[in-house]
Amino acid sequence: MDMKTFGYLYYKARGYGQLEIIKEAEISEEEYEFFEKNLGDVLAEIESVRPQAENAGADFVRLTRYIYERESDQALGVPRPDAVKVKPGEIVSLPAIGKITMPEITLHKAMEQRRSLREYSDKPLTQDELSFILWASSWARDFRSNERMEITLRNVPSAGARHPLETYLDIRRVEGIKPGLYYYHPIKHCLVLLDNSPEKADQIFEGCMRQGMVAGAAVNIILSAVPYRTVWRYGQRGYRYLYLDAGHVGQNIHLAAEAVDAGACMIGAYLDEAMDDALNLNAAEEFVIYIASIGKKS
Ligand SMILES: Cc1cc2nc3c(=O)[nH]c(=O)nc-3n(C[C@H](O)[C@H](O)[C@H](O)COP(=O)(O)O)c2cc1C
Repeated sequence: MDMKTFGYLYYKARGYGQLEIIKEAEISEEEYEFFEKNLGDVLAEIESVRPQAENAGADFVRLTRYIYERESDQALGVPRPDAVKVKPGEIVSLPAIGKITMPEITLHKAMEQRRSLREYSDKPLTQDELSFILWASSWARDFRSNERMEITLRNVPSAGARHPLETYLDIRRVEGIKPGLYYYHPIKHCLVLLDNSPEKADQIFEGCMRQGMVAGAAVNIILSAVPYRTVWRYGQRGYRYLYLDAGHVGQNIHLAAEAVDAGACMIGAYLDEAMDDALNLNAAEEFVIYIASIGKKS
């Protein structure tokens, strides 16, 4: 879904009139007419789901109480999910973790200085700096695998060491790496090029509701969640942990960015459908959960 379609549906479903929709959604009269003709079914679906959505947050908290839980798939002996995705594509190596220059900054300073930064200098990130941010947020320092269990251990905590988050990078300005959408392999500490068409960057900007920092960033880190990795162990309660895990990653991105004289802005306002599409995800299995725009300070 692009921003125009979203805008039309959003304002139409809220009962705005034609002129208001054209203005607020920034669409032409022709586009309005086109949507009127073609989006009737989608609007009907939105109307039918809305009463359910009204209380979804409170229902989620209530229904994921332990008292309502059935035995988890793990307890029932269902085979374990893998700890990491395998993505095919051109491999781009990064400076080895043991070789990168670890920046010197006190924790006190990093925490004190941290702010959400939405405007960046044109300076690219170096590969060392990018590697450091990935080290802090996503890199797997250990991988343990047997028939019953497969886990990674990272510099962020995760409920049950399930680490359900995958890391994608929308690289725009990193020294020596061509712009494009990449997957980060947390064990091999390398990138896998998924798509370097210029439209991909636009799609991500649109998906992030045209927030300026996404277009200006040196890199946007897009975190997705693979819910079953956690649900296998914790049932539906596991969904709570996906969001808690993502928060830890976000904070480490912030602090690591600070350490390399960069800044970050976490992004929760994005169009789910558009971002899942941009990453080619089947949302029932994996969905975008959190995004961070990052760039050098001006
Ligand atoms: C979960 C979450 C989602 C956020 N989403 C956005 C966003 O979509 N756009 C944005 O500009 N800032 C976003 N922010 C940044 C907050 O606006 C920011 O943290 C807040 O204003 C406090 O400012 P500070 O981070 O500089 O202390 C988000 C922050 C969090 C933690």
